[in-house]
Amino acid sequence: MPEALASGRPGRWAVVDPELQRARQRIHTATRVVVLTGAGVSAESGVPTFSGPEGLWRNFSPQELATQAAFDLDPKLVWEWYEWRRGLVAPLSPNPAHRAIAAWEPRVPEFLVATQNVDGLHAAAGSQRVIELHGSLWRTRCNSCRQVREERQVPLPQIPPRCPCGGPLRPDIVWIGEPLPEWAIQRAFQAARAAEVVLVVGTSGVVYPVAALPQLARSAGAFVIEVNPEETPLTAAAQVSLRGKAAELVPLLLESVAR
Ligand code: OAD
Repeated sequence: MPEALASGRPGRWAVVDPELQRARQRIHTATRVVVLTGAGVSAESGVPTFSGPEGLWRNFSPQELATQAAFDLDPKLVWEWYEWRRGLVAPLSPNPAHRAIAAWEPRVPEFLVATQNVDGLHAAAGSQRVIELHGSLWRTRCNSCRQVREERQVPLPQIPPRCPCGGPLRPDIVWIGEPLPEWAIQRAFQAARAAEVVLVVGTSGVVYPVAALPQLARSAGAFVIEVNPEETPLTAAAQVSLRGKAAELVPLLLESVAR
């Protein structure tokens, strides 16, 4: 039988299963935390995921839209796709999962959100210590001078946009076959090796090197918690797996530390 526990709010009781309780105990005392997120954390904000029946890669070809070769062949087509995604995400807001993660951060001395998402919703929720491992929809990078710039305007006045140096601007996003920025992956893995708790939310766990982070953290002694409606290849690395939607389960999990 699940154990009934006070939810922390007067007059309200929640039924807490033992696994959730076990994860909460670790979370409550942790001073070094990594939160690893994927597309699923933003699903309930309305951002499409990549895999799954409704996922972007079901209807679009990553090879034709998210590679340097595709960009060299047809930069306008690639930019049209990113403009569509920028327009889709621009009006969206962080959901209760993003907000709970942001509210947890000030309580933890060493805290890092390592996200594969390019939507900017962790920062919009107030998270300060965020690494965007796969880049951002809200930055451009010049293919000639390499300058990275913030670009929030939607839609862009010109497609494909050009850098003041005359070079072609691309989205500052890691495309297929490209390495992640070395500093970003170093920092995320360093934090994972030192972490007491690693919370993995809404990732299918198939894209490397990020997919290696939970197992590495566990081998180094971290308590790994997964939140995902489905089992993933990362489930084996997790001591606790909570099956359900991020916007429901993450606030429940973080109830005592994210207020
Ligand atoms: P995916 O689309 O591959 O996986 C999304 C995961 O979120 C799945 O495991 C779902 O079960 C889970 N999910 C769906 N709805 C959820 C919800 N409401 N709450 C919690 N979880 C939910 O996305 P990623 O794992 O982020 O890379 O994909 C990793 C990378 O692959 C992306 O960054 C992208 C893609 O190709 C690049 O573009 C470089």
